[in-house]
Amino acid sequence: MMPFLIRNIPIDPPLILSPMAGVTDYTFRRLIKRRGGVGLVVSEFISVEGLTRGNPKSKRQMRFDEEERPYAVQIFGGRPERMALGAEMAEEVGADILDVNCGCPAPKVVKNGGGSGLLRDPKLLETILKEIKKTITIPLTLKLRTGYSDASINVVDVAKMAEQCGVEHIQVHGRTREQGYKGLANWDLIRQVKEAVSIPVSGNGDITTIEYGMNKWRETGVDGILIGRGAMQNPWIFRQFADVLAGREPYQPDLAEKKDVLLEFFSMCREEMPEIVSLGKMKQLAGQFTKGLVGGAQFRQTLYHSHSAEEILDNITTYFETLESRSTFGDGFVEADADLVLDSCDAAMPDNLPYGKTSASIAA
Ligand SMILES: Cc1cc2nc3c(=O)[nH]c(=O)nc-3n(C[C@H](O)[C@H](O)[C@H](O)COP(=O)(O)O)c2cc1C
Repeated sequence: MMPFLIRNIPIDPPLILSPMAGVTDYTFRRLIKRRGGVGLVVSEFISVEGLTRGNPKSKRQMRFDEEERPYAVQIFGGRPERMALGAEMAEEVGADILDVNCGCPAPKVVKNGGGSGLLRDPKLLETILKEIKKTITIPLTLKLRTGYSDASINVVDVAKMAEQCGVEHIQVHGRTREQGYKGLANWDLIRQVKEAVSIPVSGNGDITTIEYGMNKWRETGVDGILIGRGAMQNPWIFRQFADVLAGREPYQPDLAEKKDVLLEFFSMCREEMPEIVSLGKMKQLAGQFTKGLVGGAQFRQTLYHSHSAEEILDNITTYFETLESRSTFGDGFVEADADLVLDSCDAAMPDNLPYGKTSASIAA
């Protein structure tokens, strides 16, 4: 696996932080980028209806820092003229790449023709892509699911059409809309897309270990790999992957570094957002981050029941100090992850969960 180019932008290493609404905001992207090994970061999906009507939340979602480059803004919507306007705004704020969301399964998004709804209407998608191409000069990329349902898998045809429209990178999450996040991603369909087009193709779905990622890359020959949920469980996953690609031993953070990354995240959140939102964000990350750690479930309970920054900080310190001195915490179990579902772009939709909350924190 080698670095690849999106037009003249090197994606080096060829590893991408997959966009996640309610997660991959300005704070989280920088946290992950600083761990190393990330070749491209993407914003949360941003509503063009919000953007073009001056919704301050949508505008704020485009914000980024120089340290994040190369940086892609992802937009969603179902109306060509609005999509073109939204794309223009992303170019104006200085994004390096404009990405169109063609995968979000959330009913509110699909109902309005956007997200994976576009897979049901490739003609509309074609119009959208052509309109956007007329308005922007930065590269246009597309993130797709494999089809709307098992009965209508069309990712190969859609990718070919997109290439004709001037799209310069295709990213495929190997599930259908109907599938949601169930089952496993179908990497064979991702391979078929790679073989069908001559622009770069990146694959996505279920990569939480380097071994799995390397296997999928070997099986499909994709140019790049996107990792979403795996980055919350292991913020060093990109660095470790890049190490293996370069023939090095994968980096292993020690307990002190694991503690520090949570503290760094919390301090970044507190600079950016109201305290209550920071607490929610912290619970969200800690919930995923402690998957598979000894006593992780009990640690999470202490966090979920923390009501102030001081309590959270104390609980983090206690957890890691106990682990370090006694190599265990609480009941000492590494529990099953049943309470840790984090699987939708719904979470960030207005009127749904409060900003920053996920089913993981709600469940607590
Ligand atoms: C909470 C959450 C929010 C997501 N939001 C987006 C989004 O805004 N745009 C997008 O293209 N995909 C979104 N996705 C899909 C991910 O980018 C990715 O395709 C999917 O999670 C599969 O990759 P993974 O197994 O590495 O997580 C989201 C996924 C999750 C879990």
